[in-house]
Amino acid sequence: ARGAGARPDLAGRHVVVSAGGTREPLDPVRYLGNRSSGKQGYALARTAAARGARVTLIEANTGLPDPAGVDVVHVGTAVQLREAVLKAAADADAVVMAAAVADFRPAAYAEGKIKKKDGQEPAPVALVRNPDILAEISAERARPEQVVVGFAAETDDVLAHGRDKLRRKGCDLLVVNEVGERKTFGSEENEAVVLAADGVETPVPYGPKEALAETVWDLVAGRLTTTAG
Ligand code: CTP
Ligand code: CA
Repeated sequence: ARGAGARPDLAGRHVVVSAGGTREPLDPVRYLGNRSSGKQGYALARTAAARGARVTLIEANTGLPDPAGVDVVHVGTAVQLREAVLKAAADADAVVMAAAVADFRPAAYAEGKIKKKDGQEPAPVALVRNPDILAEISAERARPEQVVVGFAAETDDVLAHGRDKLRRKGCDLLVVNEVGERKTFGSEENEAVVLAADGVETPVPYGPKEALAETVWDLVAGRLTTTAG
């Protein structure tokens, strides 16, 4: 319940949110990165704190100021994000992976800056897979009642890709949005469908990222109250 005077519905809960995009270094001055702004993850962290949760926000390369009343852990790469998420998830009631995790990282890191050589074409960049953090925390729940939430930005048959990804990842909820103009990257607004492992699909109309965040916490809180707090 969120009525006046009622105990906030996430009071006594610990939630972990990842936000931003990882950067995978090639050399001391260059990286592979992505366009995640971190705004959706920050909206999730702020709204959870307002609903009474203890919040650990694991932030990668957003440049955003730390929200008040939230424990913030700053990381750079996918491997660092994995370490921080696993550590924070150990006693968490919910883990929300809003971060854009690089699927690949350069196979080698050059300790010195990579230089051009006259008359030579560049060497190709070899990549290796990064760990899949969402699949790992979904498979090995730190607590049996823990709720795990993923995000996916898709094109084309967005819902079909989403349903397939929900199954592959093994999470409880997957927030699926369509990538396109004015949507998702860097914008203040979002439109999504939240897919649940039990088959329930909750559409969230185009609106502020806070509104989507509140819907995510409604669905998480609903799953937590069926277990004891
Ligand atoms: N994710 C993760 N670790 C990774 C990649 C993704 O934890 N190495 C998480 C993201 O934080 C997000 C969800 O998985 O919550 C879906 O990310 P997405 O990139 O859509 O999934 P992928 O399995 O990488 O699929 P794709 O090939 O479409 O990129
Ligand atoms: Ca990916």
